[in-house]
Amino acid sequence: MTGKEAAARKAVGYVEHGMTLGLGTGSTATFAIQALSERLLLEKLKITGVPTSRRSRDLALSLGIPLTDFANVTRLDLTIDGADEVDANLNLIKGGGGALVQEKIVAAASDRLLIICDESKVKPQLGEFPLPVAVIPFGWQSTHLQLTSLCETATLRVNLDNTPYLTDDHLYILDLHCNPIIDPAHFEKTLRQIPGVAQVGLFCGMTSRLIIGFEDGTVEERS
Ligand code: A5P
Repeated sequence: MTGKEAAARKAVGYVEHGMTLGLGTGSTATFAIQALSERLLLEKLKITGVPTSRRSRDLALSLGIPLTDFANVTRLDLTIDGADEVDANLNLIKGGGGALVQEKIVAAASDRLLIICDESKVKPQLGEFPLPVAVIPFGWQSTHLQLTSLCETATLRVNLDNTPYLTDDHLYILDLHCNPIIDPAHFEKTLRQIPGVAQVGLFCGMTSRLIIGFEDGTVEERS
């Protein structure tokens, strides 16, 4: 078992009958969605899932997990999601998989956010992983210029054919190199003041519990 799978399986243990559950995106969240489908089958557990991307929606549907649209939901009981980096205060960088906008909307509407990862994601400070920032395509060059004044470099995420990568919400992503990020909450606010910025992959003060999985199948939990 990998650390990611160990963390995912532990997190799915927190799911209770009747919950409305946010389903994260990425390889670790995929383990959680798979473990959830097993519990649904074995225990006849009834839950309603709210996916954070097309990828997670398709996976959940293929595994028979009942889903609802975010439009039908006011609050979620719990969201289980991965992260690209986690610091000592449980602040996160997310969006390596491009789903940061929906991930943040769903996380903000959740009573609890469980973050699952392996030990490689845990860092004393954020910033080694490039920070994803979702930007509006219109005038992205101007947004890029303003962002580059706040970091070392900002790179437009592209597909294999060099066309701009588009999120599920039809946004571009600029990956910012700014290492270390000294004050993540303040940096997030600064970035969001730029008009073309739609969302920032910094999730500050949102994590209720962090579950770190190890290769030997053990986990460590932090709140
Ligand atoms: C998706 O946009 C991301 O926020 C992922 O949750 C994050 O990139 C972690 O991905 P892995 O679980 O694949 O490492």
